[in-house]
Amino acid sequence: RLPDPCIMVIFGASGDLTHRKLIPALYNLAYDGLLPPGFSVVGYARRPYTDEEFRQEMRAAVERFSRRQPIDPDVWETFAQGLFYFAADFHDASAYPKLGELLERIDRDRGTVGNRIYYLATPPDAYETITQLLGENGLSRPNRPGSWVRLIVEKPFGHDLESAIALNEHLLRYFREDQIYRIDHYLGKETVQNILALRFANGIFEPIWNRNYIDHVQITVAETIGIEGRGGYYDRAGALRDMVQNHMLQLLSVVAMEPPIAFEADPVRDEKVKALRAIRPIRPEEVNELTVRGQYGPGFIAGRPVPGYREEPRVAPNSLTETYVALKLFIDNWRWADVPFYLRTGKRLPRRVTEIAIQFKRVPHPLFKGMITAGVEPNWLVIRIQPDEGVSLNIAAKVPGPRIRLRTVTMGFLYGTSFLVPTPDAYERLLLDCMLGDSTLFTRRDETEAAWVPITQILRGWAEAPPPEFPNYDAGTWGPPEAEQFIARDGRRWRRP
Ligand code: BG6
Repeated sequence: RLPDPCIMVIFGASGDLTHRKLIPALYNLAYDGLLPPGFSVVGYARRPYTDEEFRQEMRAAVERFSRRQPIDPDVWETFAQGLFYFAADFHDASAYPKLGELLERIDRDRGTVGNRIYYLATPPDAYETITQLLGENGLSRPNRPGSWVRLIVEKPFGHDLESAIALNEHLLRYFREDQIYRIDHYLGKETVQNILALRFANGIFEPIWNRNYIDHVQITVAETIGIEGRGGYYDRAGALRDMVQNHMLQLLSVVAMEPPIAFEADPVRDEKVKALRAIRPIRPEEVNELTVRGQYGPGFIAGRPVPGYREEPRVAPNSLTETYVALKLFIDNWRWADVPFYLRTGKRLPRRVTEIAIQFKRVPHPLFKGMITAGVEPNWLVIRIQPDEGVSLNIAAKVPGPRIRLRTVTMGFLYGTSFLVPTPDAYERLLLDCMLGDSTLFTRRDETEAAWVPITQILRGWAEAPPPEFPNYDAGTWGPPEAEQFIARDGRRWRRP
């Protein structure tokens, strides 16, 4: 079914996210015929563009970033007729009544009947003002019976537990929880949704998906990119806030959650939040044992020299911000008691790869002792989120020949070969879900706050511990050497993707 006709107001229309993700995703939806009739976008930013200039610039963005190339002139023409620009400062209270008038005019001209999505794609310090001014100008509530108003909030959602709670309370003064869509684009990735299918549409995994059979879980989000000109934001955030609080804890919650009673927004999120709440509290004095921080120095990526983090624009030359973090979490419930979840993420690592690797326990009685060729490990089930999306299972097999010799072989499924359809971008799925009013893949208030709890405990511990000697890894390596010792202390090692 198509969504109801609606207008999406993008606050921060001149920014990176609008160019790279939002407009290309909306264009792709238009190309696939998934947008409702009359669908319109109002780009809100300070630059003095006309509608026509805004359309030109958005066209260039689609040409550069859409997965549909070349651009289809007919699809573009129809889509571009619905693009409008509104030049104003986010903090200018007098702009909002005018915005309201523009939206009503579009309602009349294009039949969007009062349905609105406000997308906060601005720096987070503007979130409070924008939502307050929307609320005070009567724009946060439907203006006619049967219409709806929704708000999409981008990360970062607060910078610690306290500020996240304060932001939630602020938003809830003007919008109801069911109007608020907190976006985490990892949930829009096909492979992340497939974790639910793997776990809950197959009979063979759930019975062994617990502490009786699983030795430990590793979640890796490795990136080769640095901070790409985002020094101003990143130097205040760091890897723990930028990646772990949101994307990685979302991955963890999907792997660890109990089966929901229905595939609907609240039952799914109820289970995810329970898993997050079961994360064992981290005391400040344990933080050094449970985490490793790293920051990259100069090095090489794919043979090309790259600068160190401290040399990046808008990064303090003596910055103590981490660009790498490894941590160990426990989930204290019946399913996961004492099963370590090792998480690691870093910028400027040798490969771009995101995967969840689940290692099963060894066999209880080693029948093939001495006959096992080096390298045979207990079974790994690996869910590859990106690239080369797929799922694989490593199993020990007998090497053909007169003697018993074992080697690891891989059973696998690859999206690229099993499904001959292109994978939509995460934002396409999420923007469409929001238009349809489905918040299953968005984070609820309690989830965001539950995810901030362990992160805030770690941040406190770090603030009390002596700062690490940064930089402590070269760009193009797998992070600081301490990260290897960190997991080796438990008799385990990181899987090399
Ligand atoms: C963003 C982070 O949320 O996710 C970036 O701010 C990071 O630092 C990006 O590079 C990774 O997303 P993806 O989809 O490329 O894995």
